[in-house]
Amino acid sequence: MARQKIEIAQHYDAVIEALTSGGLLLGSYDAAGKANIMTIGWGALGEIWGMGIWVVLVRPSRYTYQCVEHSGCFTVNVPRRSMGAACAVCGSKSGRDIDKFAECSLTQVKSDSVGAPIVDECPIVYECTVVHSNDVLPDKLADEILTGPYVGGDFHRVYFGKVLAALAEPNAVELLKQ
Ligand SMILES: Cc1cc2nc3c(=O)[nH]c(=O)nc-3n(C[C@H](O)[C@H](O)[C@H](O)COP(=O)(O)O)c2cc1C
Repeated sequence: MARQKIEIAQHYDAVIEALTSGGLLLGSYDAAGKANIMTIGWGALGEIWGMGIWVVLVRPSRYTYQCVEHSGCFTVNVPRRSMGAACAVCGSKSGRDIDKFAECSLTQVKSDSVGAPIVDECPIVYECTVVHSNDVLPDKLADEILTGPYVGGDFHRVYFGKVLAALAEPNAVELLKQ
């Protein structure tokens, strides 16, 4: 795909729309070099410490957790609407058990700037290196959150990824609608 560098905030509305509808795809490699992708529905794109940052939340039970802990980086891939079925698979099956790129007929491409795979079918991609991580602390959480997403524990690790490259196809917003 002919993705070109964009400013980090370019296409922000379309990216958040995708995040909060079907989800985005978080790419990483495991210790053996196998590419994995996981659907994320929670995240934030912004500026912290004078750098463009993606904040993503990954529960320790996810295979992706091991991958990001090992590699220290990830990609955030913004899918087209037509990739909803792939997002459902990547959000329900684990890379421990299957090759999700093969299962979803998606194409993995090596990132130029980080050791994490890109989903080539995605019109917008961010390549991120972890500059900070911390864990969601139960005793610091509001009750409404503690009794919601965390009834089963498995408190997320919060990764702050410095955006080394933000890339998009020239007609990315139109492609996202397809
Ligand atoms: C729409 C959607 C959003 C999700 N968002 C997150 C998320 O932000 N963080 C998380 O840890 N899991 C999230 N999940 C669950 C993971 O994607 C799911 O457990 C996945 O199978 C983990 O894959 P892995 O074991 O290969 O890492 C989400 C699932 C869906 C369907």
